[in-house]
Amino acid sequence: MAIENNTRRNGQNDGQATGSSHPTNMLGNSRSSESDSDDDSSDTSSVLTQIGNDEFPGHFVEHEGRLFHSHGDLPYPLPVDGEEQARLNSQHKILRTLLGSHADGPVATVLASEQGRQKRVLDLCSGTGAWVMDMAGIFTDVRFSGVDIVPIGPRTIPRNVHFEVADVTQPLRWPDETMDFVHARNISLAVSNFPQMLREAARVLRRGGLFVSGEIRRQVNFAPGYPGNPDVDAPRAERFYRIINGVLAHRGLQDYTRNIPTYVRESRLFSDGRVRDHVIPIGDWQVSRGRRRRMGLAYLEAISKLARSFGPMLRNEGYTDGFVQELITGFVEDMRTVPGMVGVYQTVWMIKA
Ligand SMILES: C[S@@+](CC[C@H](N)C(=O)[O-])C[C@H]1O[C@@H](n2cnc3c(N)ncnc32)[C@H](O)[C@@H]1O
Repeated sequence: MAIENNTRRNGQNDGQATGSSHPTNMLGNSRSSESDSDDDSSDTSSVLTQIGNDEFPGHFVEHEGRLFHSHGDLPYPLPVDGEEQARLNSQHKILRTLLGSHADGPVATVLASEQGRQKRVLDLCSGTGAWVMDMAGIFTDVRFSGVDIVPIGPRTIPRNVHFEVADVTQPLRWPDETMDFVHARNISLAVSNFPQMLREAARVLRRGGLFVSGEIRRQVNFAPGYPGNPDVDAPRAERFYRIINGVLAHRGLQDYTRNIPTYVRESRLFSDGRVRDHVIPIGDWQVSRGRRRRMGLAYLEAISKLARSFGPMLRNEGYTDGFVQELITGFVEDMRTVPGMVGVYQTVWMIKA
């Protein structure tokens, strides 16, 4: 591997729970032989994919005035409310601008039309569905599925899109070799066992299919040419990451981003691939105007929101409110004022062997 520096389809009542007796986890992932109704193809399960309005509240719990997922045994620590959704949508635009596309890798080749077969894409932990919706608007003859534990995808969607609620740490409901592209962006707070998820993604991918991972590193980074000793130059940001990474590790959520290329190699399931680090500007220390400045300011706002979203997790862990406030304020101040601070978005794409 080379290293470079709720189904809510218009007017359709698809995929409702049928009371299947097949093994089903708490969110309804199941692998049964009944025909699937998210489209006309050969999916083989009958899972809960349609979320009725009355079922909505059951997916959320309120804590400290913020909404979280209600699936207590899953480790995802962030709220899933309007503020978080705004952050995810902003981050989506930032990453789109950063990459100059919606994903690294030979996406257009893999999704090129093929006579007699509709191509399929699966987005794991799809969040607000922004990536799926944008991609579905570009590849209009490809069928897109987005999966998340909470129904926060859009409610009005085009015919080639479907969202459903399921736990991606459980076996996916799709049969072997059904997908042409599986996309997993910023899932390291949701999935603790990446190698297991990689095997499951490979299972549902066709030979020659594409898997793309994208993760923003949870650490202080300096742009090339800046002195950049985090302990000395950005001690408050460094302390923030040290503390949240400790708490997250305690929940089983290590930052495994750097290990992803190794996991891919060790899986022996993929034949080709690339790893790339993309540098995201933070704030406006780098340039005084233009697109990169706008990106830097938007990313500063996004990571400030992210820091605040970690507040409830830290207080749950026993840190006092005063400590948490100071930790978050210090992080934001370092991010805003220390020259040379950048984020790093690592993308890994690979082809199923
Ligand atoms: C950081 S967000 C990323 C969302 C999206 N991929 C993006 O890049 O905008 C992580 C998402 O994972 C979802 N999630 C957490 N645990 C999950 C699980 N076990 N199965 C499915 N989705 C999960 C959360 O609800 C949240 O929407």
